[in-house]
This record gives sequence, C-alpha cells and structure tokens, in this order.
Amino acid sequence: MNIKAMTAVAVVLLAPTFAYADADDDTMVLNEDISMVTKTAAPAHLSDALDEVMSGWHFRSDETQAMQLDDFDNPGMIFVEKGMETWAKVDGSEGKSCQSCHDDIDSMAGVKATYPKWNEAAGEVRTLQMQMNDCRENQMGAKAWGYDKGAAINMEAALSSVSRGMPVNVATDGPAQSTWEMGKELYYARTGQLELSCANCHEDSYGLMIRADHLSQGQINGFPTYRLKNAKLNGVHSRFKGCVRDTRAETYKPGSKEFVALEMYVASRGNGLSVEGPSVRN
Ligand code: HEC
Ligand code: HEC
Repeated sequence: MNIKAMTAVAVVLLAPTFAYADADDDTMVLNEDISMVTKTAAPAHLSDALDEVMSGWHFRSDETQAMQLDDFDNPGMIFVEKGMETWAKVDGSEGKSCQSCHDDIDSMAGVKATYPKWNEAAGEVRTLQMQMNDCRENQMGAKAWGYDKGAAINMEAALSSVSRGMPVNVATDGPAQSTWEMGKELYYARTGQLELSCANCHEDSYGLMIRADHLSQGQINGFPTYRLKNAKLNGVHSRFKGCVRDTRAETYKPGSKEFVALEMYVASRGNGLSVEGPSVRN
C-alpha cells in the first residue's frame, strides 16, 4: 500500500467512510467441484508493483460471493444459456452457425484465457468479441454484433464459462508487445479533473473503502460480470468506461483501439488467476 497515493485518492474522492479492509481469505470452489485460483503470485512483468494478484471476488460481501459459487445461484448463467443457444443457431447468408465450423462449444475450452491475442493473418490484436465478429462477417455473412451489447456479451460469457478454472495466460511479447505497451501507458496515465490513473486506485489503493465500495485490483478474469447494480452482464470496456468517467475524464468507446490495448494489458495483470466469467459483482 502506497500511503501517499491512498491519501490522495481518499482526499480527492472525499470518501465519507474512509477505511481499509483487507481482501478476505475465503476460497472459491465452483459448483463444489472446481478449485479456483483467486490469489496468486504476481506475473513477472508486475513484480515491481505487486507481490500478489487477487480476483475482485475477494472484495465482495459474503452474500455476493456466494452467488458465484453455484451455477444455479449465478444470475449470469441465464445469459450463458442464451449464448449457447446462439452458438447452434444458423444466421447470415452462408447458412451457418458457430457450431457448423467449431463443433460443440466445449471445443472452445481454454480460448478465453488467452484473449486478447495477436491474430497473424489480420496483423492485429483481437479481443474475443472482435474475433467473434470477424467470424460473423467473414465466415457466416452475418452482421457484426454491437460491442459489449447483448448478443456479443452473452456469447463472450458462454465462451468464458467453458474456460472457468483455467489460468489466464495472455502473451505480452512478440508482435503483440506494442499494443500491450500502449495499454500499460494508458493504465498509468493520470486523467480527468481528478488526475487519477487506474493504478492510483487499483494498484496503490486496493483494499480502501470508497463510497461504501471495497476497492479491488480491478482484475478482469471475472468478465463478463453480472452486476447487481444493473442486473445484467457487463463487458470489460463498459466497465473501463465507467471508471474513466469517474475521474471526470473524456472516455473512449467500447471496441476502440485504446480499450483493446487496455484490455490486453489489464488481462495480463491477471495472468495465473482462474478464468471466472461470468462472475457476480455489486
Ligand atoms: C465458416 C466457418 C466458421 C464459422 C461459421 C464460425 N467461425 Fe469462428 N473461426 C473460424 C476460423 C477459420 C477461425 C480461425 C481464424 C483465424 O485464426 O483467423 C475461427 C476462430 C474463432 C475463434 C478463435 C479461436 C482461437 O483459438 O483463438 C473464436 C473464439 C471463434 N472463431 C468464435 C466463433 C463464433 C462465436 C462463431 C459464431 C458466431 C463462429 N466462430 C463462427 C471459422 C468459423
Ligand atoms: C477513483 C478510483 C478508480 C479509478 C481511477 C479507476 N477505478 Fe476501476 N473501479 C473503482 C471502483 C470503486 C470499482 C468497484 C469496486 C471494485 O471492484 O474494485 C472499480 C472496478 C473496476 C473493475 C471491476 C473489477 C471486478 O472484479 O469486477 C475493473 C476491471 C476496473 N475497475 C478497471 C479500471 C481501469 C482499467 C481503470 C483505468 C482506466 C480504472 N478502473 C480506474 C475505482 C476506480
């Protein structure tokens, strides 16, 4: 904990309930079956900044945590089912469904853990949603889904659900490195009237209570996330947008190259944590 930054955040936000509470020591076993890694040694690229990385799950109340432990209690699973239905549904001019080429959705186990990822043929870093839309447009002759919108987020949740328990493993080197570095720059840039960076809150001050909210490390291994606040699945870029707006800065659009780069960098900060999506948060 960096005391200077912590004080800065507390003063700037005039938090009425300024307090510090450690991440709890609970363990997550999904469906009484899969042991999830929710705390682990920070990846090497973070060793100057953090010893340990932790899932946002540790910062939620017992009630919210419990909802994520069993698929029958997790409201996000309704949207996973919708995504799975879409997986098998024919759409577009080519008369194909996702399943026509990819088989069962279980064949996608492990894929979510590696995204965002470099695509050699396209010469770009792609998020899972970009890849899905590329398949829709260029393989199915179907219209692209809106970024972070219902159909896209449901499919992302379905793809994530079949990777739950697998370690996040986003490559930071090779041809993707320049995108990763752009994301890192955005993460540490102070923005807005409040002049706060992502790191000021999620690296220097996690554990703090601000506005009755327990500040986490801002990890994205649990996305898409079902939020009790808006009772729907929320995408990574939409969450970024909300956080940037809270610093009273102009924000980027979901799907923008800035948010793609930021997603890649933030995902890599969680390398080693289990894929949890769809998680439950407040
Ligand atoms: C006509 C065949 C076809 C259809 C239909 C299709 N895809 Fe694909 N998909 C591909 C091919 C080919 C690749 C590899 C592309 C590449 O690497 O550039 C791919 C790659 C992917 C990947 C990345 C896998 C990885 O290991 O990185 C995902 C995720 C994916 N598709 C999802 C979908 C979804 C979701 C749908 C339905 C909305 C869909 N695809 C429909 C052919 C298809
Ligand atoms: C003023 C402090 C502040 C700043 C600056 C900030 N956030 Fe957040 N962020 C929060 C709060 C409060 C929450 C809700 C509690 C939590 O999950 O940490 C949150 C939640 C999140 C979450 C959800 C975590 C989960 O487990 O569901 C992510 C991801 C995130 N932030 C990323 C970012 C990124 C990336 C930036 C920089 C663009 C950023 N935040 C900037 C305060 C901040």
